[in-house]
Amino acid sequence: MVKRKRRRVRRISTPPPSGPIEAGLISPRRSVPTGIGRPEYALDGEPSSRTSRAVRTEDELARMRVSGRLAAEVLNEVCAAVEVGITTDELDRIGHEAAVARDSYPSPLNYRGFPKSLCTSVNEVICHGIPDSRRLTDGDIINIDITVFHDGVHGDTSCTVLVGDVDEESRRLVRVTRAAMHAGIGAVAPGARVQDIGRAIEAEVDRHGGRFGIVREFIGHGIGDQFHTSLQIPHYFDPRATTVLEPGMTFTIEPMITVGPAEVWMWDDDWTALTVSGQRTAQFEHTMVVTETGVELLTMPADGPPAEERFAEAVASTTAN
Ligand code: MF3
Ligand code: CO
Ligand code: CO
Repeated sequence: MVKRKRRRVRRISTPPPSGPIEAGLISPRRSVPTGIGRPEYALDGEPSSRTSRAVRTEDELARMRVSGRLAAEVLNEVCAAVEVGITTDELDRIGHEAAVARDSYPSPLNYRGFPKSLCTSVNEVICHGIPDSRRLTDGDIINIDITVFHDGVHGDTSCTVLVGDVDEESRRLVRVTRAAMHAGIGAVAPGARVQDIGRAIEAEVDRHGGRFGIVREFIGHGIGDQFHTSLQIPHYFDPRATTVLEPGMTFTIEPMITVGPAEVWMWDDDWTALTVSGQRTAQFEHTMVVTETGVELLTMPADGPPAEERFAEAVASTTAN
């Protein structure tokens, strides 16, 4: 979700490992069978503006465990299809059909007018990349962001995947970004504050001596019967984020980390967010609930590891830091 704009200008000298991403063609809108329950914005693109409670009921939580699991399954399916030469539109088709096969509505579809069923953010695209006719090429990195709406609630999760032979700096970026998400998750406990999450993420990223930046314009969010609730989860230390975490609160942690400074610009499609520097960026995301003792990840498959474990493995096995 979008927050404020901020400008910080710094230069780094190493050129990015590939040329700039170019937009492709966007295919016609995919349809969702009439029997599948839809979120309130499916028809007119306008999400509800009513305020949603931060704490879920047991019934809502039970349903969110299901929608979270389904989102994790769809994410695994799409990540497994990533290969050199596939178009992001084809990944959208796979994700759309995987959601529909699970009696779920792909939440991005027509959310504030978004034209596709998932987000595909390649190389210097920070988030909200629109699937199109561009083919993945050897050495790309791609974030796949899946949200599904099932039985009245959303589950939201994303993973960055390596395409073919990826350069060492990009692999390091992906590894640091995943570690940053887990540092944030590790700060979640009843009685902790929202600002503790961003503080933990910052500490993790800062271990690398200013080589990486944290995007501030897009943040984690409360989630439940609405895709994005008013609860905001910055991925940097924000002294104003004093909200105390309580059991039953559900939200995402989804840090976007950049090589070099984290300045953002947008394509005129009003969705695609990119680094000003042209340097690469990565992201991982889970949906979670605060428990009596800590945190429970909701976006986990029923069996087997989540995408971040399956598809970051090649990254984990490279040299430390
Ligand atoms: N899944 C994204 C998030 O993590 C939101 C995508 S909104 C869309 O919050 F409209 F671009 F799909
Ligand atoms: Co999200
Ligand atoms: Co998401």
